[in-house]
This record gives sequence, structure tokens and C-alpha cells, in this order.
Amino acid sequence: MEQLSLIYFVILGGISSLCLVSASTCNPKETRPCTCSTPEGVISLQTLMDSQPNQAPLQVSKSGYTYYIAPCNHPITETACLPVSNSLVGCQVQGLNAYGLGSQNHYAVTGDPQKDSVTFMNNFLSPSENVNRIMKLILKCSKDDAVFTFENQTTDNSNVITYTFLLQTKYACLSASSSGSGGLSTGSVLVIIFFVAIIIYLLGGTLFLKYVRKAEGRETIPNYEFWSDFPSLVKDGILFTVRGCKAESTYEKI
Ligand SMILES: *[C@@H]1O[C@H](CO)[C@@H](O)[C@H](O)[C@H]1NC(C)=O
Repeated sequence: MEQLSLIYFVILGGISSLCLVSASTCNPKETRPCTCSTPEGVISLQTLMDSQPNQAPLQVSKSGYTYYIAPCNHPITETACLPVSNSLVGCQVQGLNAYGLGSQNHYAVTGDPQKDSVTFMNNFLSPSENVNRIMKLILKCSKDDAVFTFENQTTDNSNVITYTFLLQTKYACLSASSSGSGGLSTGSVLVIIFFVAIIIYLLGGTLFLKYVRKAEGRETIPNYEFWSDFPSLVKDGILFTVRGCKAESTYEKI
């Protein structure tokens, strides 16, 4: 029976490593600013933004407007932006007019650094105009320190305007050491080992039973008794997890 519980743990291990492989988007509960962390590694704009004199925001001009974006939540101190709010981290300026594009500590970071799709989103609702301005900052891994460009502007309906920006920067690249030499994550390697082990176990076990033990029919399936019990073991495992990993109380068992 000890051998059987070992097999059970190998299977559980395989399933949990599958979880690791699929969970490679930015951690939505990330508490550090301008950071995306995944099991494959971490990217952060903090070093880049700290290197700007006076923590100046990223800046780009397009069609008579100047846009200021502060991805690491340092409030924008442009004179025109301050009357809108003193905690803006995204601001659109034309002369003396300014519009908020995002407020402090309000960024949503999504995407996957391995797929080069990390996006910082924020928004600012102007109550006086009843217009919601959304900003999307898309990060792309490149050799540059930082190339900041305006992509486009779309009006979803008259009350929602989305501004898309692109930041090409080496700070959006997962470092070679964190993504592994062959590009395979620890999770993927575990999954491959898991399936290879299963195949060897089934094939080797069947051959052993058939030719060494001279078994026939369904007796050639390795650990036949265990596998016929397997569905009820899985049921037990699921119930155990659902109950918050607590064993059934003893009198319930009796
Ligand atoms: C705006 O730019 C983004 C990023 O390049 C792109 O995915 C999107 O399709 C563009 N939208 C329009 C309307 O061109």
C-alpha cells in the first residue's frame, strides 16, 4: 500500500506542476508599483523611473497634446495638471487645459512578460464632463533604455476615450537567468518528467507482468487493484480539499 500512496503523490505533484505552467500572467495581487511578477520572473520599471531627474514622468507629444505618464505612481507635478488632481499619474495637456488619465495607486497590471504583453491600465473619470479617460501603457522588451510613443486614441462611445501608449524598454525583458537557459520553465520540465515517468511505469509494468510474471488480460495492467480504486481515491482527495484539507472528524467516520 505504501507503494500505492507514493504513486498517488506523484500524480498530485504532476497536477500541481501543471498549475505552475498555466499561471504565468502578472500576479493580480502585486503590491509593488510598476511591477509584474510571474513564476518565470519579475519585470519592474522602478529603476527606470528612479533614474529620471526629479522622478519626471514619461512624456510624449502628439497632435498638439502632451501626455505625461508616471507608471510607478509618483504624482505628476505639471502646473496645468495640478488643478485637475494632485494625485494624477496620467495627464493630457494642451496649453492651460489638462485632463486626467489615471490616478495614484490605481494601476491594473496584466499580461505575460514571456509573451511581451504586459500592460499597465489606469483611468480617470472627469465628473464635470462625465467623460472617462482610460490609458493603456503597453510594455515591449527591447534593447533600448526607454522609447516612449503614442500609439492611438479610440472613442468607445462619447463618454469613454482610450489612449494607448507603447514603452519599448530593456526593463520589460525577463532576464536570461530567470527564464532558464533553454527557455523551459521549471514547471514545464516537471510536467515532462511526470509524463515520461507515467509512460515508463505503464509500459515497463505491463511488459514485466506479461513476460516475467506471465500475466494475462487485465492482470497485465500494473497495480490493477490500485487503478480500479483510483476513482474513489480521487473522490476522497477532492472531498479532502473541499473540506479545507481537514480530515473527516472521527465520529463521522464511525
Ligand atoms: C491601437 O494600438 C494598439 C496597440 O498597438 C492596437 O492593438 C489597437 O488595435 C490599435 N487600435 C486602433 C483602433 O488602431
